[in-house]
Amino acid sequence: MSDDMKSNRYGDGTRVVRSGSTQPVPGMPMHNGPVFAAPFHLADSEPGAGGADVYARYDNPTVREFETALGELDGGRSLAFASGMAALSAVFYGCVSSGQRLLIPSDGYFTGRLLADTHLRRFGMEIATVPTAVVEQRLRAGDFSEAKLIMVETPSNPALDVCDIAVVAELAHQQGSLLAVDNTTATPLGQRPLALGADIVVASDTKALAGHSDLLMGHVSVVDDELFSAIKSWRDQTGAIPGPFETWLAHRSLGTLDLRLARQAENAAALAEVLAGDPHVQDVRWPWRSSDPSYPIASRQMLRPMGVVSATFPSAQAVQRLMAASELLTAATSFGGLHTTLDRRAQFGGDSVAEGFVRISCGCEDTVDLVRDVTTALRALTAEARSPRP
Ligand SMILES: Cc1ncc(COP(=O)(O)O)c(C=O)c1O
Repeated sequence: MSDDMKSNRYGDGTRVVRSGSTQPVPGMPMHNGPVFAAPFHLADSEPGAGGADVYARYDNPTVREFETALGELDGGRSLAFASGMAALSAVFYGCVSSGQRLLIPSDGYFTGRLLADTHLRRFGMEIATVPTAVVEQRLRAGDFSEAKLIMVETPSNPALDVCDIAVVAELAHQQGSLLAVDNTTATPLGQRPLALGADIVVASDTKALAGHSDLLMGHVSVVDDELFSAIKSWRDQTGAIPGPFETWLAHRSLGTLDLRLARQAENAAALAEVLAGDPHVQDVRWPWRSSDPSYPIASRQMLRPMGVVSATFPSAQAVQRLMAASELLTAATSFGGLHTTLDRRAQFGGDSVAEGFVRISCGCEDTVDLVRDVTTALRALTAEARSPRP
């Protein structure tokens, strides 16, 4: 892709459709098919001779094309992983050694904390946690001055708090820490952490980036060559590279990210208003609502909105009744897919949230249909509250 494509001369739709594109070759497809191979033929029977691929745990042409696309969108060099957790693990294990300190969000994706508690501590890393909304304040106070790596997740999942990446990057660098940003919720179209000063972007591409709820994938992007080598060597040696078929599917799906995000955000804006107008629902969060606590930073830092909303119902039973009355809210965890899904997070443990706290991932259904469906379901909740079951 040309430098114009990597810069912001083109709009999001053009960039995702064209990212990772190779020069057109007459008779060849627009998107090359997946290359299935474990070993490749060796030139002159010598590993690496002729610069060709050798063994698919190290590299593969399909993975490389996807990584080129991700690198163009993130503004760095990318490495694809078999899941978001594989990508996060590579960042932690590739960059932090025994005896060094890692700072992670206390309100981010809970498996990151679980990994830290179950395994990273076991290997001698010191773990500290901090809520996303106060990481800047705590760094200014000098609370984590010894951290080798600071990882933030903004907007955080599931509460959707944000932090100022540029400010946190500056504070991190002043004290000699690296900054990694989990960019899953925003996607590379919604936020460019490397351009804001972060050293590492990490993401679960299982979510909106691939967006069809049919695969697991993750990636890491960096600018620095040493970081790239450290993370690549972790991937090479642990075998966390994704398979070619999933990678090809993810790359194909990436082409519609702009369209999907636009509809998801439109649906999120509409549902956030519907939910906020209902007396049963508390703490409706969507960082792009002007009354949201995240709005001042999100609207300045993010390039466009995303489709995840959170809200708190009075109880788990109220959520069950809502789901029973709705046709279009599908009970499922994860987020960023085509279908609108609702996840009552307390059922999984791990997050300190109320029993009635839900994360709603707005899909690509028609806004008018979703609004009608959820409005009707909320009315059913009100009617039941007025005449409780005997
Ligand atoms: C913010 C965030 N980061 C990382 C992950 C892990 O990704 P995966 O499930 O692809 O391993 C998730 C999964 O939900 C997530 O929400």
